[in-house]
Amino acid sequence: MRRLAPPASISLLFVLSGCSGEQSILAPASSDAGGVATLWWGMAIFATAAFLLVIGLLAKGIFVSRRRGDARPLTRSQAWTLVVSGGIALPVVAILIMIVTSLTIGGDGPAGADGRKADLTVEVTGHQWWWEVRYLDDDGNPIATTANEIHLPVGREARLLLKSADVIHSFWVPNLQGKTDMVPGTTNATWLRPREAGTYRGQCAEFCGTQHTFMAFLVVAQPPAEFRDWLTGQAAPASAAQTETEARGLEAFLGGGCADCHTIRGTAADGTRGPDLTHLASRRTLGAATIPNTRGHLGGWILDPQHVKPGNHMPPSQLPPRDFQALLDYLGSLE
Ligand code: CUA
Repeated sequence: MRRLAPPASISLLFVLSGCSGEQSILAPASSDAGGVATLWWGMAIFATAAFLLVIGLLAKGIFVSRRRGDARPLTRSQAWTLVVSGGIALPVVAILIMIVTSLTIGGDGPAGADGRKADLTVEVTGHQWWWEVRYLDDDGNPIATTANEIHLPVGREARLLLKSADVIHSFWVPNLQGKTDMVPGTTNATWLRPREAGTYRGQCAEFCGTQHTFMAFLVVAQPPAEFRDWLTGQAAPASAAQTETEARGLEAFLGGGCADCHTIRGTAADGTRGPDLTHLASRRTLGAATIPNTRGHLGGWILDPQHVKPGNHMPPSQLPPRDFQALLDYLGSLE
């Protein structure tokens, strides 16, 4: 077999790498996303078939007929038939079929939500450049607040209320649902019903400033019992500092300016400009899924947030080394 030339093999690699994984419309993990994937395949197959047909006719005209010497111009009526059927009727029918199918699948949107009943309601607010996530009770009061990581029970209907605190963002979890814009001053809705447990990556899909590309999040779909345990944990206030170092860390947090922007429930820290850190250590990533949540990355982030995400609103820390290490101990204890 001939080996593919490098550019061809590289582009094939990119094409194929889009077919699986935690952020792909071609690896649907919900029936909503299944509809989108089916639509995608239908369009791709139809477009490929139309392309091959046109190229085939062209090749026949150029190579076959000419070589056989029987090339002859079409009669006027043959030409008209070809133009009307292949140039007008076929595209009109094909486009109508695709419009109807895509309107049926994505049309008035998941927000239309005919007959869907929410098992839980989650309010997600887009900020430059992170996601605030609040779980609401039946009366719309918050049960728990977290950031950049949305946990959901498998097989349950989650209604997501989508808002923005600044500019237009777009909420997109390719494996679970199509995109929904988050528009300042209004609340949109979308529905997520994962059918299998797993971690799916979401991404802001509307340009919203310099760090748009790094405005990501994770959706963790869990068995319902596991989800309930998680939510109970998130609803609780932060555990008190257990050691002297942790207590020193909390003091550094409160005195070092962190509390002006961040909340840690159960302490005096009640800032709201940045993510709620009450259970920071339970999260998998930092900086809206930009870096893994390890002590080293957390330290690097606090010392120089502009290095990781240039333009974000967090200033660098000025803490003396001992306070800084104590702060990392304390934040690491916030399970
Ligand atoms: Cu938020 Cu792009």
